[in-house]
Amino acid sequence: MHFNNFDITAFLGNSWQKKPQLIKNPWAAWTNPLEPDELAGLACEEGVESRLITQPETTWKLEHGPLAEDRFDTLGDKNWTLLVQAVDQHVPTVAALIEPFRFIPNWRIDDVMVSFAADGGGVGPHFDQYDVFLIQGLGKRQWQVGGHCDETSALLPHDDLRLLADFEAVDTFVCEPGDILYIPPGVSHNGIAMGDDCMTYSIGFRAPSRSELIGDWCDDMLADMLDDDRYGDPDLAIQENPGEISTSAVDRLHAMITDKIGDRTAFSCWFGEYSSTPKYPEMDWQPEEKIEIKDLREQLQQGVSLRCNPASRFSFIRADAEKLLLFVDGQTMECTGDAIPFAETLCAQSLVTIDEQLTNFDSVMALLLDLHNRGSLAFEPRDL
Ligand code: SIN
Ligand code: CO
Repeated sequence: MHFNNFDITAFLGNSWQKKPQLIKNPWAAWTNPLEPDELAGLACEEGVESRLITQPETTWKLEHGPLAEDRFDTLGDKNWTLLVQAVDQHVPTVAALIEPFRFIPNWRIDDVMVSFAADGGGVGPHFDQYDVFLIQGLGKRQWQVGGHCDETSALLPHDDLRLLADFEAVDTFVCEPGDILYIPPGVSHNGIAMGDDCMTYSIGFRAPSRSELIGDWCDDMLADMLDDDRYGDPDLAIQENPGEISTSAVDRLHAMITDKIGDRTAFSCWFGEYSSTPKYPEMDWQPEEKIEIKDLREQLQQGVSLRCNPASRFSFIRADAEKLLLFVDGQTMECTGDAIPFAETLCAQSLVTIDEQLTNFDSVMALLLDLHNRGSLAFEPRDL
């Protein structure tokens, strides 16, 4: 899947994080990557996050998956929608939908949520805290787009759903297969299926909140801090009023915090691991059989390619001219020499064919073996 007709530079300059944009079928050739009954099957599986939203009359009801297979028999042909999270981790053709959006850094990408709706179905007027590209896969959906919302926007009283109490559409778009609607964070929207078999693929992004960043980084730092690393004042002098917390004491106390918080190197290493932690860490993707370096070399020399696990997150930070830190699935791998350009390729491509010469480099082979045996990379079957 790739774009044929989409000006990425203009999009980033004019719309990204700024305003909604309708991108009329920009694909070279659009094909819907997943059948509705395959999506329904995923919603019945343990370990797959899914939701069913029904609108009997004016009320909204939410059920969490896994759903019973016969749940679909009684839903009727109007006003319900099924939503399945992170379908890219289970369906390679859906994972492939992310590739053309790699103009956004890997660490910002969250997942592909897929919805199926019967006529009139939708999740109701709401806003999301993240950017989203809503790709119409099958059927038609009317999107009503409203203004900016935030935590103060009034919501309908509902225990499970965050639906806007006062939604007013400013724009209305009808999306047909292949059309993409970009919605920036905070912009209210309401998608209503027009007719049967409406499937929408949401490429969702992530943006850490300041409180999450501070809280999670501090938790990480606290784990290694020593209780006897304490305030000290060997230079204490008599002060006029013992009640005063002196300027020098405040400076020294404050520095105890800012010295730690201001450590950019420690922060960047932590953030690489933090942001590459899998979305569902409880999922075990390790291969049934771990391989050894000689089997790996043999396969690669025969020209077998390796595919990055769509559930794995690959990113890197350049530590200095000689060292690159590769972050995969919450782990840091230090790369030097020939492993550097190779790690860069791994972060930029989901399918890699290894140059025969590279199989002679121990650092590259050690990296590949580790990634393979963790389940972050797998051999690509030749007949695909
Ligand atoms: C949907 O696919 O129905 C909902 C997507 C969204 O509004 O974020
Ligand atoms: Co939304």
